[in-house]
Amino acid sequence: MSDEFVLDTATVRGFVEHVRRAIDSSDSAEEAIDAIRPRFADLLADGGWLPAQYAEPAEEGGMGGGIGQWLLYRTGDGSLSLFSLVVPPGSETPIHDHLAWGLVGLYRGKQDEEIYSQRNGALELTERRALAPGDFYALIPPLDDIHLVRTTSEETSVSIHVLTNDTGCVWRHTFDPGSGEAHPFRSGYVNVSCEEEE
Ligand SMILES: [Fe+2]
Repeated sequence: MSDEFVLDTATVRGFVEHVRRAIDSSDSAEEAIDAIRPRFADLLADGGWLPAQYAEPAEEGGMGGGIGQWLLYRTGDGSLSLFSLVVPPGSETPIHDHLAWGLVGLYRGKQDEEIYSQRNGALELTERRALAPGDFYALIPPLDDIHLVRTTSEETSVSIHVLTNDTGCVWRHTFDPGSGEAHPFRSGYVNVSCEEEE
């Protein structure tokens, strides 16, 4: 499979090019993340590059709650993806993991993020933070990889994700908040399909 620019614009191509160079020239996820931060901040501050269709909720989205996950770019080898996650007011994602490092930033609206840790098979809420547009954070498994996000604004929230897997298509997990039990989960994307499993 070849690289897929679902949103093929100079802004997306420039950002992806920067990210790929940062990954290639870094020895660790932390180093790559530091190299990507300024460019990611610029992307979040630029209000003009994301067409309205990728900022729409989706009734049929795999996350439930009308949440839309829209692919913008992915590599053919599944090593990198860029997507928007659109969470309507009052909706929240299940508690979920990502299984790859990357950066997540808020583009529109407001969100609360709850970060969980696994301890002796149970889930523990370790941090809760409020996010405004322009705020972003790194996910580096196994730490900081399990969370939920909830829209707290009256406006639908839109966050931008750049992660080092094909997040919508890999099998990852949701977690039962009470028991901490993990369930296999593939969120999919609203606008592209995943390859069928063998
Ligand atoms: Fe997430």
